Order: sequence, then structure tokens, then C-alpha cells
Amino acid sequence: MADGNQHVVEHYTIHQHLDQLLEGLASIGKDIEHLSIDDLASFDAFHLRGRTATEQLAQLANLQPQHELLDVGCGIGGACRYLAGTFGCQVIGIDLTPDFCHVAEQLTQRTGLSDRVTFHCGSALELPFDDEGFDFVWTEHAQMNIADKPGLYQQITRVLKPQGVLLFHDILAGDGSDLTFPVPWAPNPSISHLIPVDELWMLLTELGFDLEIWEDVSEPARQFVVDALEKMNDASPPLHARPPMNDAKTKLTNLLDALSNDRVRVVQAVCRKLT
Ligand SMILES: C[S@@+](CC[C@H](N)C(=O)[O-])C[C@H]1O[C@@H](n2cnc3c(N)ncnc32)[C@H](O)[C@@H]1O
Repeated sequence: MADGNQHVVEHYTIHQHLDQLLEGLASIGKDIEHLSIDDLASFDAFHLRGRTATEQLAQLANLQPQHELLDVGCGIGGACRYLAGTFGCQVIGIDLTPDFCHVAEQLTQRTGLSDRVTFHCGSALELPFDDEGFDFVWTEHAQMNIADKPGLYQQITRVLKPQGVLLFHDILAGDGSDLTFPVPWAPNPSISHLIPVDELWMLLTELGFDLEIWEDVSEPARQFVVDALEKMNDASPPLHARPPMNDAKTKLTNLLDALSNDRVRVVQAVCRKLT
């Protein structure tokens, strides 16, 4: 595995993540052998605004049971399960971090969705799928770890059917000034690769996308971080309420600072591949 990728995997690997998650769910009375997608809603979305963001992005699309969707950088599969469980579509998730792929599979089995949701462990820059196989590509908060933006969006374009749709919800660069690290996606600048909003717009346009919806959601994202930090004021929150990252308070405080000072922006978008 390339060095940069290895650092990304190290950043996201949480040892004993599944055990702790199941213990936390059991402690609040959930049946951990038969979980619902709602049981997992507070635990399986590693992005700003959590499940609400996933619901909002999904509402911008017209997902149907016959659709096939790929989630790039799917984490532990929260969006994959939500989309398959809610709209009945077939979903494949791909993620670089082996531990996340394992947790994703385990949780999916426990929600009874394994017939509609499968996972691949691998890189977004080498998608192991045929050309033009997907109606939708979905991606939330993964591209900021990927330096090769043309490579990433070329892969996404390749696997989308003509008239297929890219749905994304992502953190982009704001005014260009430096971030204070760590942030939730990176301990230091080496694995943080934010692209300015206008550069991403241009790249997608050049790749042949019609940018049907492009919404700045930085303010609700900022409010989400304010609320998350308030909840963390309890010095020792119960197991089920602990964010799945080390040093969460510092990372969120730095992110709040970046969001409050236009160093990062959050965008959700619907982009249609024209040919
Ligand atoms: C912040 S998490 C978001 C996970 C998920 N999309 C969600 O919103 O819950 C970022 C994810 O991107 C994945 N990722 C980063 N670089 C990747 C790459 N080159 N290929 C595939 N996945 C990647 C990481 O392993 C991690 O799971």
C-alpha cells in the first residue's frame, strides 16, 4: 500500500471498535443481534450533521429499488445501510480502511441487509468495478484524504452510467489559509488534501458533469460541531456516547475554528454525468 494510504488507514483504524460499539449499544438496551438502521444512526455516520446530512442528500436524488449505488469511502457503512434500507436499492461500499470494512460487514449482517449491501476494501483511485455500472455514486467526507482529485473524479465518472448521478457531501477549502491540526480527518497536513470550491466545480464541469444542485451547508455544519462540543463537556461520557476518535475535543475545536473563519466550507451537491 502506498505510504499516504497507509497513513490514512492508521488514522482511521480504531482497535476494538466493533466490540466497543456493540457494548455501547447493549448498554442502552439494543438487541445487538438484530439492529435497525435507526439504532445505529448516532454511531455510524462519520461526517458533519450525521444521519440528517445523509437524509438530506438522499432527498435530492430520486432513488428507486432498481438503482445500483456505489458509496466511495463508505466508512462503517452507515449511508449504505440507510440507502438500501430506506429506498430498497442495491448498494456497494468501498473503503480503504480494513477495520472499517469489517465493522461495516458485521453491522450490515446484524441489520439483515446483507442481501442488498456489500463491501469492498480498496482504494477510490482504483475502483474494482466495470465502466458505466452504477446509477449513482455517493461520497461523504472521504475526498479530503485523497490528494489526486482528477484521479478520484475520473474513476467516479468511469463507473457511472451515462446520465448517472454523483451525490456528494464534502469538506472543501475556504479562504486558503492554513488549518490548525489535528482535525477529524487528519492528525497533520500530510493526509489533508482540501480542494477549493471553485476548483472542484471546474474539475467536475470539465469531466462532463452538469452540476444540478450545489449547496453551501457550512453554517448547519458549524452548528452541528457547536452542539457536539457541548455534549462532550461531560468529562466521562457513557460508552455509547463517546465519539469514535482519539482526541475528539481538540479535533472538533480546530474544525469549529476553521468553519467559523471560512478556512473550510461544506458543500452538498448533485452532479449529473451528461454522456
Ligand atoms: C471521515 S470518514 C467518512 C466515512 C463515511 N463516508 C461516513 O460519512 O461515515 C473517511 C473515510 O474515507 C476513507 N478513505 C480515505 N481515503 C480513501 C481512499 N483513497 N479510498 C477509499 N476510501 C478512502 C477512510 O478510510 C474513511 O473511512
